[in-house]
Amino acid sequence: MPRACPFNPPPQYAQLRAETPVRWAELTGGATAWLVTHYEGVRRVLTDPCFSADITHPGFPSTTPELLPALRGNRSFVRMDPPEHSRYRRALIPEFTVRRIEAMRPGIQSVVDAFIDDLLAGVPPVDLVETLAVPVPSMVICQLLGVPYTDHDFFQSSTRTLVSASSSPEQAMSAMRDLHGYLDELIGRKLREPADDLLGRLIARHLEPDGELTRQDLLMTCRLLLTAGHETTANMITLGTVALLENPDQLALLRADPGLLPGAVEELLRYLSIVDYFPARVAVEDVEIEGTRIRSGDGVFALLAAANWDPAMFDAPDRLDLRRGNRRHLAFGNGVHQCLGQNLARLELEIVFRTLFERIPRLRLAVPAERLPYKDDTPVYGMTELPVTW
Ligand code: HEM
Repeated sequence: MPRACPFNPPPQYAQLRAETPVRWAELTGGATAWLVTHYEGVRRVLTDPCFSADITHPGFPSTTPELLPALRGNRSFVRMDPPEHSRYRRALIPEFTVRRIEAMRPGIQSVVDAFIDDLLAGVPPVDLVETLAVPVPSMVICQLLGVPYTDHDFFQSSTRTLVSASSSPEQAMSAMRDLHGYLDELIGRKLREPADDLLGRLIARHLEPDGELTRQDLLMTCRLLLTAGHETTANMITLGTVALLENPDQLALLRADPGLLPGAVEELLRYLSIVDYFPARVAVEDVEIEGTRIRSGDGVFALLAAANWDPAMFDAPDRLDLRRGNRRHLAFGNGVHQCLGQNLARLELEIVFRTLFERIPRLRLAVPAERLPYKDDTPVYGMTELPVTW
C-alpha cells in the first residue's frame, strides 16, 4: 500500500486497525490475503507456529504472484520453517553476536569517516543516498561476507531490480539469474582460495560433504545476507536523517545528550518502520485472532508499520519522541525469523547518525521535504535521492 508520506504508514492502516484489525483484502496483483494491523495480532502471527513462513506452502501470499514459482525454487531461509530454517540460523548466529558485531565498530567508523570525508570534499548540494546511505552498509556487508566492494554497482542494481514492483517478471528473473551467476562464481573462487570471511567460514565449516549445507544453500544464504544487509540500513540512514532534520527539537535533544543515541535509533526504527509488508505467512491450521477465524491455507500479512503505530502499545505513535523509552517495536520482526542482522544495523545507524551530525553540524535539506523523491515500490520504503547542503 503506498504511503502518503514516507514517515507515516499508509493512512488506511489506522482505520483498519480501529474497525477491522484482521481483514480479508485483495492485494495489488490480484491475490487475496488477511491483513493484520494491530500490535498483538501482528506479534501473534510472527510467533505462533500455526503461521508458516514457507513460501512453498499452497496459499502463501504474494504481491507479485507471477514471480512465486521462481521464488519457490530459489528460496532462502527467511522463507522456511523450523527445523529446516534452524540449520541456517544455527550456522550464522555465531557471526552476528553482540560481541562479534561490537568488534566491527572501529572498522565501521573508518568506513563512515572516509565516506564523509569524500562528501565534504564535494560542492553542496550533494546526494546523501549516493554518497553515504548506500555505500556505508554496502561496504560493511561486503567486508563481512567477503564480497569485493568493487562490484557494488552490479549487485546494487540487480538487487533493486529483483525487489522492485516496477520491474517486469522478465527483468526480475534476469536480475536473479545474474546475481546467482555472480555469487556462484564467488563461491567457486573461495573454494579454490580459502578466505577468513563469513562466506569462507561457512564454506569451511558447513559445506557438504562434511557439513550440512549444499552449494545451492550457500548461494541462497549469501544472496539473502547481501540484499538484506544493504537495502534496509541504507533506507534507514536516509529516512532517519530526514526525520531528524524535520524534527529540530528532537535533533537538539540528541545533540545535547549523545547518551540518547541508542534509544533514538530504536525510536527511528519504530517511527519509520521501513520494512512493512515483507513478513508474509500462511496459516497451516485453522486459527482465531481477536474473534476472526483464519482457515488453514489462508495467506496473512503481518503489517509491521501498522503494529508500530498502534496507540494501544505506543502513546501518540505519530510523534517522533527520542526519549520514548518503549522499545517493544516490531521493526525487526519477532519470533524465529526476527532479523539476524539487527545488532549490525543498530551499530551502523548509531555510528552514522553520531558522525554525520557531529562532523556536519549545519547539515540541512537542500529542497523542501515535500519535494523529496520517495520510493514505495519495494517491500522496503526509502528514498531515491536526498539532496543536502551545509
Ligand atoms: C535497519 C535495518 C534492518 C531492518 C529494519 C530489518 C528488518 C528485518 C525484518 C522485519 C525481518 C523479518 C522478516 C520476517 O519475519 O519475515 C528481517 C529478517 C532478516 N534480516 Fe533484517 N533488517 C535490517 C537489517 C539487516 C541487516 C544489516 C542484515 C544482514 C546482515 C539483515 C539480515 C536479515 C536476515 C538474514 C533475516 C532473516 C532471518 C530469518 O529468517 O531467520 N537485516 N529483517
